[in-house]
Amino acid sequence: MKIRVPATSANLGPGFDSCGIALSKYLFIEVLKENDTWEIIHELGSEIPTDETNLLLRVALKLAPNMKPLKIRMSSDIPLARGLGSSSSVIVAGIELANRMAHMNLSAAQKLEIATAIEGHPDNVGPAIYGDFAVAAYDHQHKHTYLVKHHFPECEIIAYIPHEELLTEASRQVLPQTLSHEQAVEASAIANVMIAAVINGNLPLAGKLMQQDRFHEAYREKLVPHLSTIRQICEEEGGYGCFLSGAGPTVLAIVPEERAERISKLLHALESNAYIEQLQVDREGLQVF
Ligand code: HSE
Repeated sequence: MKIRVPATSANLGPGFDSCGIALSKYLFIEVLKENDTWEIIHELGSEIPTDETNLLLRVALKLAPNMKPLKIRMSSDIPLARGLGSSSSVIVAGIELANRMAHMNLSAAQKLEIATAIEGHPDNVGPAIYGDFAVAAYDHQHKHTYLVKHHFPECEIIAYIPHEELLTEASRQVLPQTLSHEQAVEASAIANVMIAAVINGNLPLAGKLMQQDRFHEAYREKLVPHLSTIRQICEEEGGYGCFLSGAGPTVLAIVPEERAERISKLLHALESNAYIEQLQVDREGLQVF
């Protein structure tokens, strides 16, 4: 059995802790055989555990503690701590591993509830499970996660992925504790129109509004000084819009197909400690082969 989970980009600017898209980079988990002990083979670096302390198995064994030990292969091209949902992909894969091996018969909605409870918000785990464009909300009062999946319009996505990591925790620490009622109303109204524009297939408007976030990007800018430079290039060269991917430091530019090569080239030419990748929206989300 092979489990595939896509990378994700959360927020899309103003859709903070709520909106996300799935991307064409993947985590693969392959069950190789039953084993005496739990064993994960991977080439992801010595800091990633190969036993039950690996996040994949912590999640899976919490859900299904009686699973028999397995030898598993893990591979991923989702970079860690770059705002591309690497830990969410592992959480979702862990849930699916338990689901399949312990015959739990979980629905997508149940997987989402479990993943959101572990991750804290649904903006990465939502599109990782469902694929495409996911708009989700966790209702603390009723302890329920709502999610609507919708088609994200055709476009090219250019990812500017810094070599340096930025931990979500550090990137959340710079956020304000509170916003005024007036600020919150304006910030959420901008998010609402951004989402409506995506649903209408109006990427020029959606991209513009993705740049009008009031919840987080301005506070995080000091941690991601490259954001404004990339945004300027994107604006000058006919891109739809640019935003911080999740908590950063990756920045995504949503661009029309015919502008992708030129914008990509200009980002490559920036003297920076980053690499550039051209990605597509993953339409499927979690898959089991
Ligand atoms: N919405 C989250 C944030 C994504 O921006 O902090 C990272 O988990």
